[in-house]
Amino acid sequence: MTIAIKGGTIVTADLTYKADILIDGGRIAEIGPNLSGDETIDATGAFVMPGGIDPHTHLEMPFMGTHSADDFDTGTAAALAGGTTMVVDFCLPAPNQGLVEALQEWHQKAGKARCDYSFHMAITWWGERVFAEMPKVVAEGINTFKHFMAYKGALMVNDDEMFASFSRCAEIGAMPLVHAENGDVVAFLQAKLMGEGNNGPEAHGYSRPPEVEGEATNRAIMIADQAGVPLYVVHVSCEQSHEAIRRARAKGMRVFGEPLIQHLTLDEGEYLNPDWDYAARRVMSPPFRNRLHQDSLWAGLQSGSLQVVATDHCAFTTEQKRTGIGDFTKIPNGTGGLEDRLAVLWTKGVRTGRLTMNEFVAATSTNIAKILNVYPRKGAILPGADADLVVWDPAATKTISARGQKSAIDYNVFEGFEVTGLPAVTLSRGVVAYRDGEVIAGTGEGRFVERPANPPVARALSEWKELTAPRRVERTGIPAGV
Ligand code: URP
Ligand code: ZN
Ligand code: ZN
Ligand code: ZN
Repeated sequence: MTIAIKGGTIVTADLTYKADILIDGGRIAEIGPNLSGDETIDATGAFVMPGGIDPHTHLEMPFMGTHSADDFDTGTAAALAGGTTMVVDFCLPAPNQGLVEALQEWHQKAGKARCDYSFHMAITWWGERVFAEMPKVVAEGINTFKHFMAYKGALMVNDDEMFASFSRCAEIGAMPLVHAENGDVVAFLQAKLMGEGNNGPEAHGYSRPPEVEGEATNRAIMIADQAGVPLYVVHVSCEQSHEAIRRARAKGMRVFGEPLIQHLTLDEGEYLNPDWDYAARRVMSPPFRNRLHQDSLWAGLQSGSLQVVATDHCAFTTEQKRTGIGDFTKIPNGTGGLEDRLAVLWTKGVRTGRLTMNEFVAATSTNIAKILNVYPRKGAILPGADADLVVWDPAATKTISARGQKSAIDYNVFEGFEVTGLPAVTLSRGVVAYRDGEVIAGTGEGRFVERPANPPVARALSEWKELTAPRRVERTGIPAGV
């Protein structure tokens, strides 16, 4: 069965043009005028774009004594309803658990996914076994390893472990990711604030100031440079961290930065809301920042110093958040966003003139497909690419509300946002997965996407590091053999 998407304007990361798309066997077969298939999707007046890729989700994540409420079923339903056709989730081995064993658990959980998915492997502890299993993980189609520089006593790894792991990544053609916050300082500030009776959700923000993020970002960049490996910094929330990335890139270092749609559009004032539930629902790490930081992140997307907009979708119910009443350090960290990322970025970015449509596609899909080495299978509208597409209605409007959302939680951090520009149809590998408010893709229809090691940037960097490596100078004028 073939499908023709007719009458639309194709928008990719580099081009905007009118053409039809013919889909055959789940892939794009042809792009051009007057195409027809067994079935037709009318895209008149719409933009046809690569489906969103969200490289940062935590579905059914074991965290802070509970599990995030959206699993691969509800989470990927939210993704498809929002025009996102692939998510990359974090596999988190328990202390002393092998990576391969943890990966099997994550594959089990992800069996429920409605859209395509991949994993990043987290380095949650360090030892011979982790070192030995990293290449096995790469052989399983995972080329990224995540390091938490925060969450002391839980997920956090120290500098020596990070350097060892980054060096291992360099050897095996993989890329490290970091959650960059100085976990020692955060732990100290948390205890200090609690000791002073500052136990509400607003103290979460005070315990994680921008300098703490900036320092960790600089440190991770230095360690990656010394290990000779590219680096991807997740949830860049502030100027201090962005500045570190910008400076490193200007020096020729291969560093990527990922702001979240939340940090671009929600500010620290959210934590001052007198309603405890309201503020706690917005507790995530790093916390929301002020307008100046938001401007910095937008500028980074415009200038290219930041490349990707993600969600870090890690949704907890109000009930789960209430674990932290009386102690803000026990509020499960995380917010949702999978269903809203594209519409909010379109509304606050494209419709304000902060981003072009092509920049929008780059930031939501194409750039991360390249960084994760799945381009052009994903993130592209080209013959041979997977037909992961969104037919985007730029005139459709809605007021974001928890009522009717696909996510399993009872609130939405974007509640009340008026958005213009929404998916009309989302296709996952050529099959209509969402149309006009209804998720059609069934539980378990998503597929694991293998991501091979050694993407071009990693190869180029290791060649450069090899060429510029220290070399012994053979000298004259001294006795032989010295
Ligand atoms: O608060 C957050 N971001 N929760 C999810 C875990 C993480 O740090 O990404
Ligand atoms: Zn569990
Ligand atoms: Zn994080
Ligand atoms: Zn995260």
